[in-house]
Amino acid sequence: MLAEKTITKRMPISFSRQPIRFESDIPFFSNANEYIKNYEIIAHDHVSEMTKTGKNPFIDESLWKESENATAGLIAKYSKANDFILDIGVGLGRILTKFPHLKRYGMDISIDYLKHAQKKGIQVCFSLIEDMPYQLNSFDIIVCTDVLEHVFDLNDCCKKILSVLKPSGILIIRTPFAEDLTAYAKADYPYKYAHLRTFDQNSLFLLFTKIFNCQVMETQLSGYRHYPRRFKYSSCSQFNLLTSFLMRCLRQFTPALYKLLVTKLYNPIEINMVIKKSN
Ligand SMILES: C[S@@+](CC[C@H](N)C(=O)[O-])C[C@H]1O[C@@H](n2cnc3c(N)ncnc32)[C@H](O)[C@@H]1O
Repeated sequence: MLAEKTITKRMPISFSRQPIRFESDIPFFSNANEYIKNYEIIAHDHVSEMTKTGKNPFIDESLWKESENATAGLIAKYSKANDFILDIGVGLGRILTKFPHLKRYGMDISIDYLKHAQKKGIQVCFSLIEDMPYQLNSFDIIVCTDVLEHVFDLNDCCKKILSVLKPSGILIIRTPFAEDLTAYAKADYPYKYAHLRTFDQNSLFLLFTKIFNCQVMETQLSGYRHYPRRFKYSSCSQFNLLTSFLMRCLRQFTPALYKLLVTKLYNPIEINMVIKKSN
């Protein structure tokens, strides 16, 4: 007699309601509003500049890769083969291309981005986090990178994100770290909405542990550069410019010492936090 095998059949992810419409086979769950139109413009500017010049107009590619690699390392650490993973604010879908062995889903509010992510084999939908379309407790892992600083209602978004994570599931958040928001507040800033807040270890920790009763598994800081405004120990701009100049020389002549010092003297650009949902 053949030994009985237990086959764990894993059902695909379902939506909790019917889409409003489809475009390029992508289901839509949110109607256009001012917030969505603003992000359509940003995504369009991003994609058209990348198509023209191959460059990202918003961030240096090496810095973006560094942060992506930090987040990807955490996904690799906390995921198992065949886990269902959702990337919220999936953008171009870059991070999930590193994980073809996972069952990959993505949502965003830019059709330009979603078409790119779809071509990479990610199952995508168009939805605001606030209109979360998936069934409750669906995903083993959720990743949400560089999104929470944008949203209108932070607590509502966190609640909606956690609602579609399985009990004991893992949420990996990445946001800018202690960012200076001055540029976004200027009258000539080109977009109506961009970053509306910033985070550090304590603000993310308090948000997820005190308000949402989750457990923080680990925190990882990423993306160190000798930018004068990121210097930790002085707010004197001339001194910071001078230090930054010295760091540039150090990078050229003793890169190993530079690497060590830059993480000690400068604030990181981004923070990653791994959060476990309670049972
Ligand atoms: C800075 S990009 C980050 C993209 C990608 N996660 C990455 O790290 O490269 C922010 C993304 O979040 C999306 N987004 C912003 N607010 C959102 C919301 N309320 N609901 C869904 N997506 C949102 C934007 O369209 C954009 O693709």
